[in-house]
Amino acid sequence: MTKKVLLATEKPFAPAARDKVVAVLKEARYEVVLLESYTDKAQLLDAVKDVDAMIIRSDKVDPAVLDAAKNLKLVVRAGAGYDNIDCAYAKQKGVFAMNTPGQNSNAVAELVFGMMLMMARGRFSGKSGTELKGKTIGIHAVGNVGRCVARIAKGFDMTVLGYHPRRTAEVIRAAGAEPVDSAETLYAKSEYISLHVPATPENKQSIGKALLMSMPKNACVINTARKEVIHEPELLEVFEARPDFRYATDVEPSAEVAKVLQEKYADRFFMTPKKMGAQTSEANVNAGIAAAEQIVAFFEKNDRQFIVNA
Ligand code: 3PG
Repeated sequence: MTKKVLLATEKPFAPAARDKVVAVLKEARYEVVLLESYTDKAQLLDAVKDVDAMIIRSDKVDPAVLDAAKNLKLVVRAGAGYDNIDCAYAKQKGVFAMNTPGQNSNAVAELVFGMMLMMARGRFSGKSGTELKGKTIGIHAVGNVGRCVARIAKGFDMTVLGYHPRRTAEVIRAAGAEPVDSAETLYAKSEYISLHVPATPENKQSIGKALLMSMPKNACVINTARKEVIHEPELLEVFEARPDFRYATDVEPSAEVAKVLQEKYADRFFMTPKKMGAQTSEANVNAGIAAAEQIVAFFEKNDRQFIVNA
């Protein structure tokens, strides 16, 4: 029997990427339902009712969505982080979750440098800024994005350090970063920190005052990971205590914290208007096609690669 697949993207793919996703699924003779730029959760609850699989981005797949999706067998997060899926509940309901690791990494890494340059140049204020050349960048978690950051950092003639709690020194070195033994060492040695840690329970609020205060003069943290990994009250304390501290983020802080940062520290804080690290046509095509192909491989060949909630 033919499968029905929903593409639900509150923040839509580039049209070319959407069309390619549809083409892959149609080629497999699947029925495709598009729910792009939706504004209301009720639209999602309605759209999932009778689908066998769905492709999402940061769209929340919580118990309400999973309960509404009576036929759902597979949800594929077209991207890396799957903290937006209630994986445990999905498992309980017999629904597999997958991600598409690596497919949007370069886009995110390029944005890291876009934001670093902007902060180094005083947010393009016209005042004299600084250069990236010769500075040290610490990559916190050396995975797919971290690897891309290391590669680009070399082009800027930066010293590249890396820390990853579960990767060996050899793996970190092979990724193009000099390994350090702890987050503490990484922060203490790096003028720039690029965050790539997932929002797992152990990482939530793990980056706070101790690490941020230990950074060298003119410290700058770039967050293209998740807002949850930052200890926000302590971030505010650091802004207050260190007039040289800068923070640029692609993941919007909580509303009250963002308000304070924008009002009090506008010259040292930047946030993108909408999470846009993965928002390139190329990343959309890569992640979208991978998601569609993983769905077809799952149903046609029982391919379980990329399942994250087995
Ligand atoms: C990811 O986890 O892949 C990135 O955070 C991108 O998220 P997005 O698809 O919502 O832009």
